[in-house]
Amino acid sequence: MITGGAGFIGSHVVRLFVNKYPEYLVVNLDALTYAGNLENLRDIESAPNYVFEKADITDQKTISQLFEKYEFDAVIHLAAESHVDRSIIDPLAFVKTNVLGTASLLNVSLGFWKKNMNDKLFYHVSTDEVYGSLGEKGFFTETTAYDPRSPYSASKASSDHFVMAYYHTYGLPVVLSNCSNNYGSHHFPEKLIPLLINNIKKNKPLPIYGKGENIRDWLWVNDHARAIDTIFHTGKKGEKYNIGGFNEWKNIDLVHLLCRIMDKKLGRKEGDSAKLITFVKDRAGHDMRYAIDASKLNKELGWKPSLQFEEGLEKTVDWYLANEEWIDHVTSGNYQHYYDQQYEKR
Ligand code: NAD
Ligand code: DAU
Repeated sequence: MITGGAGFIGSHVVRLFVNKYPEYLVVNLDALTYAGNLENLRDIESAPNYVFEKADITDQKTISQLFEKYEFDAVIHLAAESHVDRSIIDPLAFVKTNVLGTASLLNVSLGFWKKNMNDKLFYHVSTDEVYGSLGEKGFFTETTAYDPRSPYSASKASSDHFVMAYYHTYGLPVVLSNCSNNYGSHHFPEKLIPLLINNIKKNKPLPIYGKGENIRDWLWVNDHARAIDTIFHTGKKGEKYNIGGFNEWKNIDLVHLLCRIMDKKLGRKEGDSAKLITFVKDRAGHDMRYAIDASKLNKELGWKPSLQFEEGLEKTVDWYLANEEWIDHVTSGNYQHYYDQQYEKR
């Protein structure tokens, strides 16, 4: 079972597992919130080893019925409320899904697996934001103390603690990873990079929080999916692994790079897109810098990013420009009718 498989990262993980492991039955469990979009998976929805189940991870009864039905031997858990700005507006939605939802999944998994934990795995996908904010120097390692500062990161930190508590208390076989900022195709346009691409295309202002000096470490989403595959198959139970791009960018520098790429792709004069940059009120509690030390994953399991940022960003822009229908459906809300069209009729 992969939870949150209709979202941005989840859809890449589902696609990778369905295509690479025809011998696995992949059950994508997703509640289809505003962030879940089954159009992300059109290319694999008819694969014989793929099933979609619409369910909420906080609904223990339904999750138990699905465990009965499929006899899952592994869970890769990505379902979450994932947007920091939304967590500032509605923190309790994040407590419900990220904390209660994760604890519910752990509880149901334990109930079904406790007689025989061999060959079972609960893989929890988390974020570098649990570590808090860095100054100019230093990196987050797996032993950095948790210091979450937004309702989103506090809810993810709490979910990580529940995962480790189930490992230590009940012996549930778990593995956990904390990743930096992802970018790539199928990214919901409330997040920085797809929002900018969409606004540049439409000649709308590019809202940059504060002075644009905050720093993020960016990783191509397909490389995150590859890391999840590696950790799922070769990671040590009870361990956590940091995943990152070794690729720090100040927001304002990233915006200028993206503007240059967009000028080129849209045949605009260099500098035209950058004129849209607009500095706006800063995000409350805005973390200054994230930087991941992913050397444990590299040394122990041999994973490293496959793509340079400039190349990955260009590929991402190409995808958005070639998939206007996807972005139109997402911005108009039409994608939410896809489930009815595709599944309710069956
Ligand atoms: P997303 O918001 O794009 O997708 C989340 C998915 O979870 C959606 O399909 C949504 O429908 C589903 N979902 C939400 N609430 C649910 C519920 N109660 N029950 C079932 N399904 C539910 O998120 P994303 O950016 O793909 O992130 C996926 C995971 O990776 C999250 O756990 C996030 O914390 C983590 N993560 C994200 C990033 C990033 O840069 N986006 C980086 C590191 C870690
Ligand atoms: O670090 C991993 C995290 O990365 C994930 O856990 C989160 O799920 C994911 O959303 C992402 O969080 P960020 O807050 O870093 O991503 P976001 O795209 O929202 O913002 C990136 C940076 O850009 C951040 O410094 C805030 C800034 N920003 C964002 C938006 C949406 C702007 O300046 N303007 C904007 O309009």
